[in-house]
Amino acid sequence: GEFRAWGGECKTVLSPICERQADGSVRQMEIGSYPVMGEAESDAALAAAVSAYDSGRGEWPTMPVAKRIACMQDFVRQMVAQRQEIVHLIMWEIGKSLADSQKEFDRTVEYIVATIEALRTLDNNASRFEIAEGTIGQIRRTPLGVVLCMGPYNYPLNETFATLIPALLMGNTVVFKPPQYGTLLFWPLMQAFCSAFPRGVINTIYAPGAVVVPHMLASGKIGVLALIGSSKVADYLKKQHPKSHRLRAVLGLDAKNAAIVLPDADLDLTVRECLLGALSFNGQRCTALKMLIVHRSLVDEFLRRITKAVGQLKIGMPWEQGVSITPLPGLHRTAYMTEAIEDAKAKGAQVVNQGGGAYCATLYYPAVVYPVKEGMKLYREEQFGPLVPVMAYDDVEEALEYVISSDHGQQVSVFGNDPVQIGALVDPLVNQVCRVNLNCQCQRGPDVFPFAGRKDSAEGTLSVNDALRAFSIRSMVAARQ
Ligand code: G3H
Repeated sequence: GEFRAWGGECKTVLSPICERQADGSVRQMEIGSYPVMGEAESDAALAAAVSAYDSGRGEWPTMPVAKRIACMQDFVRQMVAQRQEIVHLIMWEIGKSLADSQKEFDRTVEYIVATIEALRTLDNNASRFEIAEGTIGQIRRTPLGVVLCMGPYNYPLNETFATLIPALLMGNTVVFKPPQYGTLLFWPLMQAFCSAFPRGVINTIYAPGAVVVPHMLASGKIGVLALIGSSKVADYLKKQHPKSHRLRAVLGLDAKNAAIVLPDADLDLTVRECLLGALSFNGQRCTALKMLIVHRSLVDEFLRRITKAVGQLKIGMPWEQGVSITPLPGLHRTAYMTEAIEDAKAKGAQVVNQGGGAYCATLYYPAVVYPVKEGMKLYREEQFGPLVPVMAYDDVEEALEYVISSDHGQQVSVFGNDPVQIGALVDPLVNQVCRVNLNCQCQRGPDVFPFAGRKDSAEGTLSVNDALRAFSIRSMVAARQ
């Protein structure tokens, strides 16, 4: 709820949009900087959140819902006024196309508005008195305490706010750490955070996560860990919280979503959806299709068509009209793509479109890799980039077995036309993943639908309504009739 002066170290933010020089070196543009805070500042941020919550007695957790909603509406009004600056910061900092950066901003505003509306009627809020066996209960949803929110670099605004906004609306106080890439875009919102919410309700910490996050968790003062990021980081962080205190977790984690293409699939539609599913935002979506499993009778034609479609994608700078493939966030990511391709080639796969560098060192040409087999990196690792791994199957049980034996369980797509065959697949699949998409790519939205995952892919469910539930508990005030 206040600005603090900063006299310490600052980190320069370099855009991933960078030039390769004639001598092979890479020139990156500086687009801003942020303070590198440490444990002392994270202690202060946490203390502010704890004090604003004040064991449930604070102004925010006891504020009537209508007043909390008014604060959030004030915040959204101020946020909308900053649209252009925030959109440009997303584009320059993570290399997302201008069109997709605009979509991310607009979707986030729509999400906040929808969440506010959902709160008004959540779990029948309006008629919340219930009578049973002589007891009258006033049922309420009550907050959980201090929530630590962290979003990922690929949706830095949208997926940070996917937890932060419902957590606030339910009366919790928040500490949030912007993602490693996608940090500057929060600057234009700082004034709005300060003016829309009471002091200490929302606290931002700019710092290396590895330094401050375990430290904050070890204090035992965090009630809920809300992270959309990697499974490995989530496992590590959960262990930092003292065993003597209970920690709730709302997690959106790794995924390796597969598409199963049945022998009678409509290939035009299938290729179109698989292309979008695998390569939108360079394949950097947790919901992306990361393995295409095609019936052997179709695989040659499927490869011919998808390779052609991949070859026609426009590769370029994020502000170019109709661009599909844009720079990755750093050279470590292009290096990983090359490593995965080399590994597959060494183990017998063909790389149908050659991946490789370009005039911008972080631009990576998309590649179709076939046949991907067990033992290759691409078989199980989440590539999170512009690679399209393809496998062929003879018996649909093999495709099903791939999904069943995976450590991940977010979504699957099934392409086909025979309702009997599709029907027989859907029941086992929906017990393995949380969403089965019929003749369409995997995706998170529309945001009113549950977004969840089994196994290593998630903990808890996010959606407009489910997120409000995740950050609250159903409580009651009871009296005898
Ligand atoms: O990166 C993970 C996101 O939840 C993907 O969302 O399917 O709307 O692109 P999306």
